Amino acid sequence: MASARAQPTFCRGNHTLSIPMELFRENRKRLCERLRSNKQVPDGAVVLLQGGEYTTRYCSDNEPLFRQESYFHWMFGVEEPDFYGALDVKTGKAILFAPKLPDSYAVWMGRLLSPDDFKMCYGVDEVYFTTDMAEKLREMKPAVLLTLHGLNTDSKNYSREAAFDGIADFKVDNKVLHPEITECRVFKSDYELDVLRYVNRISSEAHKEVMRGVRPGMYEYQAESIFQHYVYFNGGLRNMSYTCICASGDKGSVLHYGHSGAPNAKVINNGDMCLFDLGGEYYCYASDITCSFPANGKFTPEQRTIYEAVLSANRTVMRAVKPGVSWVEMHQLAERTLLEKLKQMGVLQGEVDDMMKVRLGAVFMPHGLGHFMGIDTHDVGGYPEGVERPTGAGISSLRTARVLEERMVLTIEPGCYFVDALLDAALRDENQAKFLVQEEIRKYRSFGGVRIEDDIVVTQDGMELLTCVPRTVEEIEAHMEQGKQSGQRPLPQESQKPV
Ligand code: GLY
Repeated sequence: MASARAQPTFCRGNHTLSIPMELFRENRKRLCERLRSNKQVPDGAVVLLQGGEYTTRYCSDNEPLFRQESYFHWMFGVEEPDFYGALDVKTGKAILFAPKLPDSYAVWMGRLLSPDDFKMCYGVDEVYFTTDMAEKLREMKPAVLLTLHGLNTDSKNYSREAAFDGIADFKVDNKVLHPEITECRVFKSDYELDVLRYVNRISSEAHKEVMRGVRPGMYEYQAESIFQHYVYFNGGLRNMSYTCICASGDKGSVLHYGHSGAPNAKVINNGDMCLFDLGGEYYCYASDITCSFPANGKFTPEQRTIYEAVLSANRTVMRAVKPGVSWVEMHQLAERTLLEKLKQMGVLQGEVDDMMKVRLGAVFMPHGLGHFMGIDTHDVGGYPEGVERPTGAGISSLRTARVLEERMVLTIEPGCYFVDALLDAALRDENQAKFLVQEEIRKYRSFGGVRIEDDIVVTQDGMELLTCVPRTVEEIEAHMEQGKQSGQRPLPQESQKPV
């Protein structure tokens, strides 16, 4: 239950960002405008969304912390489960329907909020209990209820379509809404950009804190805990945008390390590269940042060369990003830059154009260059009707193949990994093997990987960088040295050292 608010804003204290509910009013306005210009939407249409539901863990009564469903959040910003929301397309009138909880719940949850409290919290026009929803909707006499049904092209899951007792009395269209609201979510408003700037700033500062504090001998999860503490304590970021990836040494080649079967539990060794992919979430808006750096604060020549190859790919793409540019071409540009650098290092031989033809880049960078980001880390809208997924190793993993437009927010995250399974397969493939210099590749077999991931917004004539962390070798070494000088975090005690 949200606390009653004196004004319609979300805030986690004076040191955090205050977000006016105007953000959601503007989102709804944008959606209404799109729907009104869609010929398939009749006069008198009403959007009806169902919010996320309360759940417990398996058969127990343990309640995982609720996080709102993303489309519902985009429209209403409601923090609690089991709400519905309606939007009159013609007038823009927004109505919330709150669950009617038994009075006894006040003992466990604090004072139960009234419809008027919720109206103030969320800045909508009217609020009723869900028990009155069918009747209130009937009074609106909607020509049609527009419900949300559509595929998420990243997860391959379908959105949850609103359902309630009595819906059979209404005419329902579940086709028209999904592509329209998804398209709205692709383009971030000024209010949304302010939140994304904030969450990036706090998460960037947290990455810097981790770099200052990490020491060989620590466990990876101790670095994860520094990050989580920093973003929550300093920024009010209670949730992470995704499971934290704190990979060191050879684990850096495991793209989604940190999952429950590989829980950031390795000791960080002297000489390891760290690949830390961490982002906090504020009021459901994400950040997604990866920093790669040597655990002991000093790059070896090999670490430096790989790192600078990836940085070159990252910065080359940044210089090229602007409206009108194809994201698929940006992926290819990153691959080409990386392959050229690997050739200069002597790890590859032959013509880069020929390497591109046999998709050699995907051996070292098996994921896409980056993805949309917003309320979801992998935000929606990557493949609207008419945009085809490209084929070919690596490039087919791109979460969008769109041409860039102003106000799109994306990650730029080239990487270079030494994944045994991919290297072995490439060595068995005569079309790829001829480009690999085996004795050089062997040296990097247990290197792990480097990923450099920044969040950006496409502007009128280029891009704005939202992430702000040390990026060059010199900046990273100087920053980590500062951490050592300040004695910020002592080495783990003798008794805690791994045996
Ligand atoms: N950075 C985590 C992810 O994109 O899945």
